[in-house]
Amino acid sequence: MDAITRIERTLSASIDRVDTQDAPPLLAAAMRHAVFPRGARIRPRLCLAVAAACGDDQPAASDAGAAAIELMHCASLIHDDLPCFDNADTRRGRPSVHRAFGEPLAVLAGDALIVLSFQAIAWGAADASARLPALLLIMAGATGLPSGIAAGQAWECEPSVDLARYQRAKTGALFAAATALGAAAAGAEPQPWRELGERLGEAYQVADDIADVLSGEADLGKPIGQDLALGRPNAALAMGVDAALRHLEALAEAAAGSIPPCPGAAALKALTLSEARRLLPKDLSQRAA
Ligand code: IPE
Ligand code: IPE
Ligand code: MG
Ligand code: MG
Repeated sequence: MDAITRIERTLSASIDRVDTQDAPPLLAAAMRHAVFPRGARIRPRLCLAVAAACGDDQPAASDAGAAAIELMHCASLIHDDLPCFDNADTRRGRPSVHRAFGEPLAVLAGDALIVLSFQAIAWGAADASARLPALLLIMAGATGLPSGIAAGQAWECEPSVDLARYQRAKTGALFAAATALGAAAAGAEPQPWRELGERLGEAYQVADDIADVLSGEADLGKPIGQDLALGRPNAALAMGVDAALRHLEALAEAAAGSIPPCPGAAALKALTLSEARRLLPKDLSQRAA
């Protein structure tokens, strides 16, 4: 089964498991709106790619890690779009969750997806229970303090911010967790895989910053020009677009170079380099190349 099919099945099964007749229908619908239809699914694909490179001997555990990272990502996008953060009306080319369902249900849908992320891991790793604590701790570390996504968003509330530290927490944490979860789910040591995720996450955020400055809303399916409007740290605003493009290339190369020796290294390297450029508008990809 291909990676996207595995990911979509596990995400559906996870939501189906909590969307029972006892559940409030609007909250369940808001959760589904945030998860389907899909975005790029880059984090779960990265998780499964690393698991495959490490042998993937417990596919239910790697599926669970992949679903967990995407559920957490979707939760973070719901909260990020709320009026108290980025006040974004659109996401993935559709109304953001609070625009479609109202703010109370958007807050709750984000909360419930965060919890579902941990449930998904516990369900999927039932037959690999020795791996369960590591999987849960990786997911928790990517989410809370000191340097998970909650910390990343909180840096926006501080009077001064180090751009690299902000981006490592806001975006890098979930990418590093994606690679670490893939390794841990396959019974490999997760630590050597973190650098790949960290560097790729930083590259991805730089690409997103460039797109926020330069591309059209139709390309991205979400508002642009937000970072300048909201006073958010942005690599392209801070260093200029050309320097940001060079920085992106360097980060993508560093990510590819950090892949530990393994049978799937070449395929992973290709995925790494192509994904780092995915967010760039077409003319900019050519400028970067
Ligand atoms: C958006 O992430 C938020 C960033 C950190 C750049 P993605 O670009 O992966 O969003 P989707 O999941 O494809 O919509
Ligand atoms: C979103 O960052 C990152 C998290 C929600 C953790 P941004 O605010 O920069 O991303 P977009 O542009 O809304 O996707
Ligand atoms: Mg934001
Ligand atoms: Mg945002």
